[in-house]
Amino acid sequence: MPPNSRPRGPISVDLAEETADKPLSRIDFSHTGLSEDQRTLANWVRLHFVKDPWELVPGDPKGEFNEEPIAPSGMPFFNLSAEDAEAVTTYVLSLWRDRIPMEYIVPLTTPRPEPELKTAVQRGRAVYEKFGCAGCHAPDGTGGIRNFNYVNGTEPNLRKVVSTYTKEELVEKINKGVSPVDKADPKGPTPSLYMPPWKDKIKGQEMDDLVAYLFSIAEKQEEW
Ligand code: HEC
Repeated sequence: MPPNSRPRGPISVDLAEETADKPLSRIDFSHTGLSEDQRTLANWVRLHFVKDPWELVPGDPKGEFNEEPIAPSGMPFFNLSAEDAEAVTTYVLSLWRDRIPMEYIVPLTTPRPEPELKTAVQRGRAVYEKFGCAGCHAPDGTGGIRNFNYVNGTEPNLRKVVSTYTKEELVEKINKGVSPVDKADPKGPTPSLYMPPWKDKIKGQEMDDLVAYLFSIAEKQEEW
């Protein structure tokens, strides 16, 4: 995706602007296990891919230290290999465009051809990827991403629920989102992940294609 079409939204921290240039003084290293001389921005970012973010950023789920309970990190546990974690860290740090260290710059090779998107379903799949639906509903729509204190525990499996909607209802759901989502324990923290409202971001052809894609992956209801 060309950088200028990268959707920006309020779902989580902006990796380009907030993370790639984060001052060390704003990082709580206390759950990282890093010694003083290992406490660098690169190590902080890298740990998010190899350590469980719930350990790294545990919040305050019982409200022991804050007035309101705070859910642990909404970031999934990817458990990447050391090599992959290194690569993603390099990429994240390079998003701070004005200050890309020289050693991060990869010489230009022939650009990969854009895949040809012919059908509404193919284009809808691209919309699903572009707006990061996969981050919460998984790349194949099966959901299952954990969400601390969420009433259903994990994010919905779109394949299972989509066939319970008409097209209009589905569009309305995506437009409006669900925020905040219901809590499992009413006294516990607000779950970190919620369904964002996409009204101003996805519209017209993109919305039509997205919906076509979602219906195409829906598990067929048993017919009697
Ligand atoms: C930040 C996480 C997040 C992202 C990103 C996200 N969703 Fe959701 N979505 C949720 C949560 C949480 C719910 C459950 C809401 C509830 O409990 O009612 C949900 C619910 C839904 C539902 C209704 C499911 C049901 O159970 O009826 C649909 C449809 C849906 N999302 C589609 C999408 C699409 C399409 C995208 C991308 C444009 C998207 N979502 C992006 C978190 C997310």
